[in-house]
Amino acid sequence: MLLKIPQVLTAEQVAQCRAALDAADWVDGRVTAGYQSAKVKNNEQLAEDHPVAQQWGDIISQALARHMLFRSAALPAKIYPPLFNRYSGGGNFGLHVDNAVRDVRGSRHRVRTDISATLFLSQPEEYDGGELVIEDTYGAQAIKFAAGDMVLYPGTSLHRVNPVTRGARVASFFWVQSLVREDAQRSLLFDMDTAIQRLTVNVPDHPSVVQLTGVYHNLLRRWVDV
Ligand code: NI
Repeated sequence: MLLKIPQVLTAEQVAQCRAALDAADWVDGRVTAGYQSAKVKNNEQLAEDHPVAQQWGDIISQALARHMLFRSAALPAKIYPPLFNRYSGGGNFGLHVDNAVRDVRGSRHRVRTDISATLFLSQPEEYDGGELVIEDTYGAQAIKFAAGDMVLYPGTSLHRVNPVTRGARVASFFWVQSLVREDAQRSLLFDMDTAIQRLTVNVPDHPSVVQLTGVYHNLLRRWVDV
């Protein structure tokens, strides 16, 4: 499932985050790349232990915890602390698949990367190129959202970032380990949850709402990984 999660950060938060990021020192993005992806990665990253990365990573994590659409779609069990990258001057990231498991730096935690997320922090008009291109069952999808908006896509997808030929593309990226490992099962639960929420608004007293809610939880119970 490829899904837009709008307004994870407000316009004011994006402006504050960008001011902090623009003033920070960046390092070569290959520091977090695996052996294969290092060969195709050409961007800058904020060091994982940089105070700005930690401060804004926490703010993003807190925003996600309150975002109902994100919670319904991702069913998050663990979120990798958000990282930050910047592409400029032709910077790009060739076709790759993300590592299946990520160790969380400075801890004993590991995250299985069921879902990949990119939160855009530059407005589309600030740069040319820089589309996140995701190979989907429907073909390649080129994603470029407004600052503050986020895309979720399956961690299993091949993806790339097109060269940025003008300006700079700043983003946060991270991974989610879901309570439901399989994308197809997670998509089905998300569709059902969306339908139940709509019914709850439109026909709140209909007895089928309770029955359908029961089916949702009983499916989740079959598929959940705890
Ligand atoms: Ni990637």
